[in-house]
Amino acid sequence: MCGIFGYCNYLVERSRGEIIDTLVDGLERLEYRGYDSTGLAIDGDEPDSTMIFKQIGKVSALKKEIKRQNPNRDVTFVSHCGIAHTRWATHGEPKQVNCHPQRSDPNNEFVVVHNGIITNFRELKTLLTNKGFKFESDTDTECIAKLFKHIYDTNVQNGNDLDFHELTKLVLLELEGSYGLLCRSSHYPNEVIATRKGSPLLIGVKSEKKLKVDFVDVEFPDDNRPETPIHNGTSNHINGSRIPNGNGPTTTNGNSNHINGLKKAHNLLPIATNEFNLRHSQSRAFLSEDGTPNPVEFFLSSDAASVIKHTKKVLFLEDDDLAHIYDGELHIHRSRKEVGASMTRSIQTLEMELAQIMKGPYKHFMQKEIYEQPESTLNTMRGRIDFDNNSIMLGGLKAWLPAIRRARRLIMVACGTSYHSCLATRAIFEELSEIPVSVELASDFLDRKSPVFRDDICVFVSQSGETADTMLALNYCLERGALTVGIVNSVGSSLSRATHCGVHINAGPEIGVASTKAYTSQYIALVMVALSLSDDRVSKLERRKDIIQGLKLIPGQIKQVLNLEDRIKKLCENELKDQKSLLLLGRGYQFASALEGALKIKEISYMHSEGVLAGELKHGVLALVDENLPIIAFGTRDSLFPKVVSSIEQVTARKGHPIVICNENDDVWAKKAESVHLETLEVPQTVDCLQGLLNIIPLQLMSYWLAVNKGIDVDFPRNLAKSVTVE
Ligand code: F6R
Repeated sequence: MCGIFGYCNYLVERSRGEIIDTLVDGLERLEYRGYDSTGLAIDGDEPDSTMIFKQIGKVSALKKEIKRQNPNRDVTFVSHCGIAHTRWATHGEPKQVNCHPQRSDPNNEFVVVHNGIITNFRELKTLLTNKGFKFESDTDTECIAKLFKHIYDTNVQNGNDLDFHELTKLVLLELEGSYGLLCRSSHYPNEVIATRKGSPLLIGVKSEKKLKVDFVDVEFPDDNRPETPIHNGTSNHINGSRIPNGNGPTTTNGNSNHINGLKKAHNLLPIATNEFNLRHSQSRAFLSEDGTPNPVEFFLSSDAASVIKHTKKVLFLEDDDLAHIYDGELHIHRSRKEVGASMTRSIQTLEMELAQIMKGPYKHFMQKEIYEQPESTLNTMRGRIDFDNNSIMLGGLKAWLPAIRRARRLIMVACGTSYHSCLATRAIFEELSEIPVSVELASDFLDRKSPVFRDDICVFVSQSGETADTMLALNYCLERGALTVGIVNSVGSSLSRATHCGVHINAGPEIGVASTKAYTSQYIALVMVALSLSDDRVSKLERRKDIIQGLKLIPGQIKQVLNLEDRIKKLCENELKDQKSLLLLGRGYQFASALEGALKIKEISYMHSEGVLAGELKHGVLALVDENLPIIAFGTRDSLFPKVVSSIEQVTARKGHPIVICNENDDVWAKKAESVHLETLEVPQTVDCLQGLLNIIPLQLMSYWLAVNKGIDVDFPRNLAKSVTVE
């Protein structure tokens, strides 16, 4: 949902060509976040001037446009700041004037790239138009660039010499909505501002010499310094947060363990953690150890995947952080007054590898991610399940389990595919924990202003950890004092940082817009949480054993299901070719598979598809069934099998020709196929509550091949983007 990228070099000589290539490469890695249009801004040929390139379409179109304009690539810069953007349109259709960077005026005095939505942009536009500004675009972002200029000019007229970050603070005071924002200005050469509120932003640091310290102090003006938190030295800090002691959260008025104070315990972060002492005072982290000036490069980005090629050292900005980079130094300020703000940002080491974000031998990221599932599901379980002793250990949750077990209800909140992973695991959660579970779509949960109580446990599931609806729901629950649990893939994401505790699913970067491997890993992570909640119950011993042993086999079984690809490809080329619509029937554990399968098919192949609860068929949907409508039914074995058979018989009785996803060598379907028109896709059998992990694979493959056969670029489905950071 829009990707922003910035590159600053200090005391590192770079040609304009190299700077453009770095920015363009960063955009290519962020393209999955939006691909309506792209653009970048760099130093122009005149002193303190800015050159902007922009183009509708993907990054490849921008590359052509830059080539066409033929800037001098050889001119070199010892210090320089460039900013870039790939857009998913929210305000203003994808056309040239609406591409970012947006500018304050024809001289490009202030130039901005933005991810998010400024909700009061109409009021700001009216105000600025009345002040004489002429708007060129339909975007909300343009008013930010113009606001910078307006406030700058007004202060200059009044004799106020504002620092770039002071100016930005004044601008931010006027903005409502969400933003991840980079700004450069001809008035502040070789400086850049990066600030965020509700949209992700991180800063990669590449330094020639060893840095003096591995954190940055937040700089507060004297009147705005929050009280220094009381703390007990350097113990218990995980990425600058405190992990709970003893039995998890208790309400205290002190510094530790409180459930509404954003303390968290993700100690399964695949990040090398830095322990540091908050009493240390250090603002200039970018001096080398010996205190000498340090050649340094900064990579500012919406996503770690775009900086990993350059550096693994990153610093995640928090909401209302305002980073000001100049003279090779990074200064972090807060854009609003507050109490209890965290006072340092640690520089963390990513454990992501470049190979993880490359396509390798695959044609598309989606295909690669489907095929990664034997490995990614194993990674979700790695180091957490002891298959010999049938035990589970989730470090990020351990201390909170007693509090969670005491809960009277558990609310799962998510969007899209992540919501389906919650639906898929609700029954096993309820069975093992004996706690009532409700599953909520984040937007609907908020629309209803659903009541939330202090003793509720709210579980937020998100691949990106940045989805706006899910984040808003999380904040809503935090405000009401609930204990929040995050089930997240993206390490360092807003959701993983804001929840009290949680589990990283460790599926590795998911770049394809359609979520595939994140679904299976979320599913397993949620099952592991349910297993952890019941590890003190003797009555659940046998059931837990079965599930744990079932989990052990899942990666290998997924591999087996992937062998169905040729059959599925043929189905897509024949029976399903040119079809306009598709029904998916499932019941019990398989209702989630039907919904998730239908979502995959519609978002990637643009074929209308609907997941239907098989028991609901007779209440209306059956009217659609005839000999032409393709139907896929989940007919694998579980306690509801007889009922599913009966639903499928209702379909065949109306001349429907279902494709049944069933277990290997299941006689029932083989016999039926002798008398009615029915096809089967056979998958291995596993424990009932895990069967959805195998049943979804054929649907992922089907959506992929339906799309490829139609010539759709599956990694860039129309109108969509990964990581939906707007409401
Ligand atoms: C579908 C898909 C989306 C996401 C949804 C939530 O394939 O990817 O439905 O699942 O936008 O995103 P996260 O999980 O990042 O919160």
